Amino acid sequence: MSLPGTNLLNRIHTRRARVGIVGLGYVGLPLAVEFARAGFVTTGIDLDVRKIDAIRQGTSYIPDVPTPELAKLVAQGQLHATSDFSVVASLDTINICVPTPLRKTKDPDMSYIVSAVEAIAAHLHPGLLVILESTTYPGTTEELVKPMLEATGLKAGVDFFLAFSPERVDPGNPKFNTRNVPKVVGGTNPESTELACALYSAAIEHIVSVSSTHVAEMVKLLENTFRAVNIGLVNEIALMCDRLGIDVWEVVQAAATKPFGFMPFYPGPGLGGHCIPIDPFYLSWKAKQTGFEPRFIELAGQINASMPHFVVDKIADALNRHRKPLNGSSVLVLGLAYKRDIDDIRESPSLDVMTLLHQKGAHVRYADPHVPTLPGRSWHGGFELHAQPLTPAALAAVDCVAILTEHTAVDYDMVLRSARMIVDTRNAIVGCHSHVLKLGAPAPPLEPAFPAEKAVA
Ligand SMILES: NC(=O)c1ccc[n+]([C@@H]2O[C@H](COP(=O)([O-])OP(=O)(O)OC[C@H]3O[C@@H](n4cnc5c(N)ncnc54)[C@H](O)[C@@H]3O)[C@@H](O)[C@H]2O)c1
Repeated sequence: MSLPGTNLLNRIHTRRARVGIVGLGYVGLPLAVEFARAGFVTTGIDLDVRKIDAIRQGTSYIPDVPTPELAKLVAQGQLHATSDFSVVASLDTINICVPTPLRKTKDPDMSYIVSAVEAIAAHLHPGLLVILESTTYPGTTEELVKPMLEATGLKAGVDFFLAFSPERVDPGNPKFNTRNVPKVVGGTNPESTELACALYSAAIEHIVSVSSTHVAEMVKLLENTFRAVNIGLVNEIALMCDRLGIDVWEVVQAAATKPFGFMPFYPGPGLGGHCIPIDPFYLSWKAKQTGFEPRFIELAGQINASMPHFVVDKIADALNRHRKPLNGSSVLVLGLAYKRDIDDIRESPSLDVMTLLHQKGAHVRYADPHVPTLPGRSWHGGFELHAQPLTPAALAAVDCVAILTEHTAVDYDMVLRSARMIVDTRNAIVGCHSHVLKLGAPAPPLEPAFPAEKAVA
């Protein structure tokens, strides 16, 4: 190992290494807390001054990070936060955890990575270990990040070290967290891999080293494409079951009893979150540059993107049972976050369903114990909404309740008792009921408006 590498390894082993995290969101803040807990003086850097202020005051804004734990680390001087990148000059390691969204054209938006790397490059110094964690297309670390850092005159793998390690955090998961999810690490050269593995081993239980940054980048895209495609498949099965009058929920539950060769995925109103609807398109964009057309990703994307439309059709069916049109009816969307028991509404299919309902003239409102307010800029309805209290009166006051996220804090028996009509896209309601339409399940019998006309002899 080189002299700068040996020095850094020593500093990591003795916890004297000064650790930095760029981007203190759902990924970056829990990681910063893990490094601080492991004994490193850790500095978080974020452009959002509200986050910096919150951390300095010892207040967590990420549900998976308890405020008392954050407050303790800040009070002990283990965790610092700043918006000033000049601190990079005094750091030994830096993990980049900034967003990687898609443009409207489904092309990668690399602007956050570029801006973070530019700011780091301005303070790059010999011996620094830089690790990219943001999910991105294979080749980003070597083709984009490395040349930007090497433009300083310092050489990757010689003067500074560079690696990619995908973040696999699952917000809201009570069993798996930053510490106990194995960490995949690939460096631009063996020394970078070794140093990055040494750093993570101090804070994370199990490290999986791979041969290159390309492999590490591709691992994450395989994982998320696997989910997107399997959710697309089960959504298509749900659409078929809906037509065939078969309960898809019962089918998946029974299939899941097979002890090998099957893994259950569940249908729903569409894909949400920062990862599954987006990441596969990073891969598809890169593959297309080589003339390869990735068909599974595109097909799963089409099926998953069609689900909010299907849900709106279901809501129209439900209202039809009470001889009401969507236009002028009131619909309460129950669950705004993209998945159960979290507060994250990014890419949530609930927002698409609400927008479609609003465009068709429905009076839309929502209830979500984790999301008190929906800012106007966060959905295409364009106006701010506040969560309705989930009371029998509020449920009974609307023409239809659409369950789009099955938060565990919700009393579904009360919903069942109080609502006039329910569309259940998550199998949150147990059993069959005359006023409940489930996605992918047989519909209860319809009472016709007029008695059947007598056949003319
Ligand atoms: N949220 C998840 O569940 C999850 C899981 C695995 C991987 N990822 C990936 O991790 C990355 C980060 O996701 P996230 O959910 O933490 O995003 P986030 O939006 O919660 O946090 C990103 C943070 O980066 C900050 N930021 C943006 N540009 C910056 C810059 N130039 N300098 C400093 N700070 C900057 C933002 O202010 C924000 O606080 C993404 O690539 C995402 O795909 C996310």
